[in-house]
Amino acid sequence: VKRVRTRHFQNAKEQGIPITGLTSYDALTAGIFDRAGIDFLLVGDSAGNNVLGYDTTLPVTIDHLIPLTRAVAGAVQRALVVADMPFGSYETGPDEALHTAFRFMKETGAHAVKLEGGVRSAEQIRRVVAAGIPVMAHIGFTPQSEHQLGGHVIQGRAGSGVEQLLADAHAVEDAGAFAVVMEMVPAEAAKRVTEELRIPTISVGAGPHTTGQLLVWTDWAGLTTGRIPKFVKKYAELAEILDGAAKAYIADVAAGAYPDAEHSYDG
Ligand code: KIV
Ligand code: NA
Repeated sequence: VKRVRTRHFQNAKEQGIPITGLTSYDALTAGIFDRAGIDFLLVGDSAGNNVLGYDTTLPVTIDHLIPLTRAVAGAVQRALVVADMPFGSYETGPDEALHTAFRFMKETGAHAVKLEGGVRSAEQIRRVVAAGIPVMAHIGFTPQSEHQLGGHVIQGRAGSGVEQLLADAHAVEDAGAFAVVMEMVPAEAAKRVTEELRIPTISVGAGPHTTGQLLVWTDWAGLTTGRIPKFVKKYAELAEILDGAAKAYIADVAAGAYPDAEHSYDG
C-alpha cells in the first residue's frame, strides 16, 4: 500500500477528489479505518472528552496524547496520521510550538501536527513548517478557546465573521499549512474559503463545498451517548450494540448459560 502524503492532499484539491478523515485514539479503530481506506486519521485532543472523560479539551496534555498517537501511527499502513497539539502546548510562541511538534514527531510516528488558530497562530505554523513538519491548521470554531468564543458557537457568519474567517484562512496558507480544518462554519463561507485558497480545506461541520470531510469517530459511530452536533451523521449505533451485548452477557452469566463447554478448557 502506498502511504497518503501531503502532496496527495494538494493533488486532491487540484483534481477535485474528496479527502476523508476520522479521529482515532487507539490501535484497533485506527487499523479498521485504515484498511477501509480512510485518507487521514486525526488523534484529536477530543480524546479529552471521548477517552479521558473530561468535559472540554482544555485539561488534555502532551503526555496524554503521546501514547494514543503512537498507537494510531503504529496501526496504519496507508492513512496520514495527524497529531493534535493540545491547549497550552504552543500558544506562547514559535519556540514552544516547535518543541511540542518535535515531541510528537519523535515519540509517536505521526506524519503531521495540527494546531488551532488562524492569524494568532501563523508564526507558530511558519516555524514548525520551516523545521520540515507538515502542519494542518484549524480555524472557525476552535474548541480550545470555547470560553472566549462563548461556547459551541458557529463561526464565519455573514459580515465580520466571514472577514475574520478569510483572514485566518489566508494567514495559515501563507504560513505554510498543508491543509486547513474549518469547524462549525456556514457552508457558503467554507465554499468561499475553499475557492480563495490554494491548499485543501477540510470540513467538520462546514458543509459540502470543501476539499475533504472529518468527523469525530465516536460521534460518527454512535458510541457517544451525550448530545452530538447537528452536522454529525451517524453511520452506526455502537452504543446500542454494546448495551445489548452487555445485557446479554449479564443475563447469560446469571442464567448459567455462559461459559458453556464450548468456551471452557478440558482437562
Ligand atoms: O480534536 C478533534 O477531534 C478535532 C477535530 C474536531 C477537528 O480537533
Ligand atoms: Na482538536
